[in-house]
Amino acid sequence: MKEKRDTFGSKLGIIAAAAGSAIGLGNIYRFPCMVGENGGAAFILIYLLIVICLGIPIMLSEFVIGRRSEKNLVGAFKILAPGSSWTIVGYIGVLCALIILAFYSTVSGWTLEYILKACTNYFSGKDINAIEQGFVDFQNASFRPILWQIIFLILTAFIIFKGIKDGVEKYTKILMPALFVILIILCIKSLTLEGSSEGLKFLFKPDLSKIDSKIILSALGQAFFSLSVGMGCLITYGSYVDKKDNLKTTTLSVCLTDTLVAILSGIIIFPAAFSFGVKPEAGFGLAFNTLPMIFDQMAGGYFFCIIFFVLLAIAALTSTISLLEVIVTFISEEYKIKRSYATILGSSCAAIIGILATLSLRKNSILTLFDKPLFDNLDFLTANIMLPLGALLIVFFVAWKMKKDNFYDEISNNGSLKNGIVNKIIFFIIKYIAPIVIVLIFINQMFLS
Ligand code: PFF
Repeated sequence: MKEKRDTFGSKLGIIAAAAGSAIGLGNIYRFPCMVGENGGAAFILIYLLIVICLGIPIMLSEFVIGRRSEKNLVGAFKILAPGSSWTIVGYIGVLCALIILAFYSTVSGWTLEYILKACTNYFSGKDINAIEQGFVDFQNASFRPILWQIIFLILTAFIIFKGIKDGVEKYTKILMPALFVILIILCIKSLTLEGSSEGLKFLFKPDLSKIDSKIILSALGQAFFSLSVGMGCLITYGSYVDKKDNLKTTTLSVCLTDTLVAILSGIIIFPAAFSFGVKPEAGFGLAFNTLPMIFDQMAGGYFFCIIFFVLLAIAALTSTISLLEVIVTFISEEYKIKRSYATILGSSCAAIIGILATLSLRKNSILTLFDKPLFDNLDFLTANIMLPLGALLIVFFVAWKMKKDNFYDEISNNGSLKNGIVNKIIFFIIKYIAPIVIVLIFINQMFLS
């Protein structure tokens, strides 16, 4: 008996879900930090080039594998390359999803704590040192970070539990517009602050002399993480896409929205930071420490602080949903386990690793490896090793194993959409350019950083 597979109910649904996966802490929290540390507009320019030239073809490759196979991450490779060892790519992807979900849920949990802090006016009158100390105290608290992490995972599991159409699609279709409304409100606020034009100059006036290999390679890593490519997350979402949908326009919309949100986050953070004399290199503290301090000093800051952390939580939730979906589809299809049990199993595994990651950030924690907390090791392992490796294998698979005609059939819906020169260019990039560039970042991140 073949169980009917759930699919997305509409084109907007798949775009909202895939954009929801891409848009996350990586855009609102990591992107501004990378821009600040890597010279502003010059970094953005390179980032945009990479998204257009590499991000789009790689994302399209993932959608193609997913929709052609209509299977989970491992099942996809079993169907498209039977009896080969390509299934390993699927297993690596599932493992990568589990690890990212584990440490991502740590930071996602923080967003809930900070919503509460913002609501109770915790930041009022505190200077940056007091706010930073509060962050350290929270990380060292015995129970709270873990409690929030578990709550976040339960929230994610609840949505996954309901399936694709009634869970993922329904909730991302509500959450994504909400996220945009909040982003726009915060942008307007930031742009109307005195002295905000300096921040805009930092963001949009590139100093080309700043471009070096470090900036190019950092932009590449950021682009992969932000677009959710390299581990097959979009293979899983692609497997639920209707055969009539246009994969090229879907890919384009997802990449565009993801990039737009990253730029809007920059517009929220930098004009505000410049206006209050905060250095753009403030790094990862920018979102959890600097911004609350800035909000506290502006009119209406109480509300803006709350909505900022709500924004961060929503963005994180639509990403954790996509990560758990990869694991759940894999468990339920490959081991013929009910979706509800697979959800409990998948989220419990993520919770166990995630709690260890959270505990590793405590002072004097023994959960360290190479002198770094487990959390940092998991982050490094996935973003710097598994994603580039996965992306490399995925483009390699599409170009050399799946063959050109199958690829063209899939992106043209068996010839019913036009097969122009654009398709040829995309295939050329997938076959030659993407592998070479990915190998370059890989070497950089392994040996130079
Ligand atoms: N793209 C997400 C972000 O920018 O926060 C993170 C992410 C989600 C990475 C899902 C990979 C993934 F499969």
